Amino acid sequence: MAAALHMSEKMPESLSLADDQEKLDLELIEIQLLTEGIYRHHGFDFRDYSLPSMRRRIWKRIYAEGLSTVAGLIEKVLHDSSCMERLLLDLSINTTAMFRDPTFYLAFRRKVVPVLHTYPYVRIWHAGCSTGEEVYSMAILLQEESLYDRCRIYATDINEAVLQKAKSGIFPLATMQENTANYIAAGGTGTFSEYYTARYDHFIFRPSLRENVVFAQHNLVTDASFNIFNVILCRNVLIYFNSVLQDRVQHLFLDSMEMFGTLGLGRKESVRFTAVGDNYEEVDADEKIYRRIR
Ligand SMILES: C[S@@+](CC[C@H](N)C(=O)[O-])C[C@H]1O[C@@H](n2cnc3c(N)ncnc32)[C@H](O)[C@@H]1O
Repeated sequence: MAAALHMSEKMPESLSLADDQEKLDLELIEIQLLTEGIYRHHGFDFRDYSLPSMRRRIWKRIYAEGLSTVAGLIEKVLHDSSCMERLLLDLSINTTAMFRDPTFYLAFRRKVVPVLHTYPYVRIWHAGCSTGEEVYSMAILLQEESLYDRCRIYATDINEAVLQKAKSGIFPLATMQENTANYIAAGGTGTFSEYYTARYDHFIFRPSLRENVVFAQHNLVTDASFNIFNVILCRNVLIYFNSVLQDRVQHLFLDSMEMFGTLGLGRKESVRFTAVGDNYEEVDADEKIYRRIR
């Protein structure tokens, strides 16, 4: 993500300064044509994604493809499916980490786990799971809380490439210091090294962590509800959507949520000011954990 942000420095200078309104207006029209073309030809709907973030990523791809205009990218994306795949990777922003925001997992352990213990069977949906670190983090937490055996975890993302990585359970060893620190800060009750085997510059998670996990492609914008869940975690995904799209996805979550089910969002996200906000009460305001109450 950091690399993508830096690309904004490479956007045409006049546009960065916003002093050439006509050029900016034209660029916005081209971006609308691009997202409309992607939707109609490839079926991915980025039409209501937040514009500043889209612009940065589109310009990153324009330069990476050796192009210089949005119009050039439109042509390439419509005629070259491998270019669409590369753009999809840029637009879907896959930044993630093991026990990302450790205090979220700490709050989940303390405030949600006791409720889950009262259920005979627990269905959990990780929407926008990226390369799966969040899913393995939850699987570890559930194993430590003796809940894993009665859980079924559905881990979905729009991007097939990240799902393949998630399914493999193989991650770079270089992240291990951060992983271990996060695991401890998240209230881990064992030692992180119990859960993986190191091989050269990678580590692979114990297969038992994947046993109750189904990884599948699902597009939050265009696909329907596919089950009813006790827990839905969608962290750091809605932040890239505008308010219209956030409302649409929140309706999807409400349609997919059991009464008294738990919704977990990212730090900078909230259900409060969406169309379905009144259906939830706060379980932990800082960690953006909510309970469905109507
Ligand atoms: C920044 S990552 C967040 C990963 C993880 N939830 C976390 O918090 O670490 C955002 C993920 O949302 C996925 N995503 C973006 N748009 C989506 C959509 N319309 N449907 C499903 N997933 C989407 C991206 O592919 C990406 O993997």
